[in-house]
Amino acid sequence: MAKSELNILILAAGQGTRMRSRLPKVLHPLAGRPMLQHVIETARELRPHGLGVIYGHGGEQVPQQIGDESIEWILQAEQLGTGHAVMQALPQVADEQIVLVLYGDVPLLEADTLAMLVEHADQALCLLTVHLPDPTGYGRIVRDEHGRVTAIVEHKDATDEQRRITEVNTGILAVNGGRLKKWLGRLDNNNAQGEYYLTDIIAMAVADGVPIEVSHPAEVSEVLGVNSRQQLAALEREYQLRQATRLMSEGVSLADPARLDIRGRLHCGQDVALDINLVVEGEVSLADNVTVGPNCVLKDCTLEDGVQVLPMSVIEGAHIGAGSRIGPFARIRPGTELAGQTHIGNFVELKNSQVGEGSKINHLSYVGDTIIGKQSNIGAGVITCNYDGANKHRTEIGDNAFVGSDVQLVAPVKVGDGATIGAGTTLTSDAPENALTLSRTKQKTVTGWKRPTKQGRGTRDE
Ligand code: UD1
Ligand code: CA
Repeated sequence: MAKSELNILILAAGQGTRMRSRLPKVLHPLAGRPMLQHVIETARELRPHGLGVIYGHGGEQVPQQIGDESIEWILQAEQLGTGHAVMQALPQVADEQIVLVLYGDVPLLEADTLAMLVEHADQALCLLTVHLPDPTGYGRIVRDEHGRVTAIVEHKDATDEQRRITEVNTGILAVNGGRLKKWLGRLDNNNAQGEYYLTDIIAMAVADGVPIEVSHPAEVSEVLGVNSRQQLAALEREYQLRQATRLMSEGVSLADPARLDIRGRLHCGQDVALDINLVVEGEVSLADNVTVGPNCVLKDCTLEDGVQVLPMSVIEGAHIGAGSRIGPFARIRPGTELAGQTHIGNFVELKNSQVGEGSKINHLSYVGDTIIGKQSNIGAGVITCNYDGANKHRTEIGDNAFVGSDVQLVAPVKVGDGATIGAGTTLTSDAPENALTLSRTKQKTVTGWKRPTKQGRGTRDE
């Protein structure tokens, strides 16, 4: 690793016409967060002394959306080329620093590749290049008869012979700050695009006798840029496949590595098994032996040992205790805490509620703003009426309670330990412990009752 301070500049001012979008290109999400955010996170892994983003197209939206005060936000009001973009940042660059240039629309670069690139940047101008079967559009790496790099020629400026070169410039480079300033001061825009090309500094370095060091990324996908929605979708799949590969190598079973989407961070214990079409958002932790069925969404939640999530369930902002079983078709909303061995069944919605050890809510219920003790059973169709149209109220249910089917609990209301609530009850005041409480109109039978019959034809026009 080079000894000098590192100053990383991320170029993110370009327009991205081919995205056909109002959103600036670098804010388009990859795995749920802006492309630029990925580049910033990778840059941070190198612990740079300075981190600057050159923005322009889309204006203040870019710094506002990223919302990171520790970054130097440098406006490039007019996009006159990559060299011009870097020039905007020069006041923030010290002569003895190493400047590493990254692109905000190249989101899959790995920190290891960059660490390798900057290694010799004290003495040399360091370039990251790749060989592409179809190099169209890229700047070409021109070498002399000894294989030494002499220049980069942009596709539009290249001769037919140069266009046959398959080694291309990724745009990522690292160089000493003082030299960069000197060379950029000599840049002009006499070229096919009338732009100030950062790539023109390569020939200047060669003329000054500064060595050019070339390195390559481990995977070509690391340096692929996004210019269209098709390319963004392709990089999304590539990113997701990398996540899947990492998880499997850490001991997670995936039914299909191509059908997993992690738009946040997933931490897994041992022998976790994930069925198809899981979407992960935010921070999700799955302890040992957790299984997740097909078509589930997990967001900002922690699932303890051996939790089983059955198909089509959505869990957000919740903590699920060990050995619990959720779903199929369950929805667990923020603020929910389930103790161990709970059962939450189909078409049950839980919100901001605590459920004690071993309690069960198995069918068709809404439970909100509620605390339930241990070993209680909440029957089918139970609803907590937590909202009076203006305010939310709490429901409290003790241990070993039995709430019969189709009960409405009109909050605020309490159900004591061991209480039984008869089916169909509308509970409007507290139910004492160890007793049966029910509200029900007395059942009656009318004998000799005749059902109405359909009136005969011809009595009215049909
Ligand atoms: C650039 C390189 C080319 C390389 C290719 C790799 C130059 C002259 N050419 O070409 O050698 O093969 O990248 O993808 O450097 N940007 C600004 N301000 C500007 C212009 C660009 O911030 O005034 C940003 C863009 O937002 C983008 C990056 O710089 O993130 C590259 O710009 P782009 O126009 O895509 O460069 P290319 O012509 O593709
Ligand atoms: Ca480009």
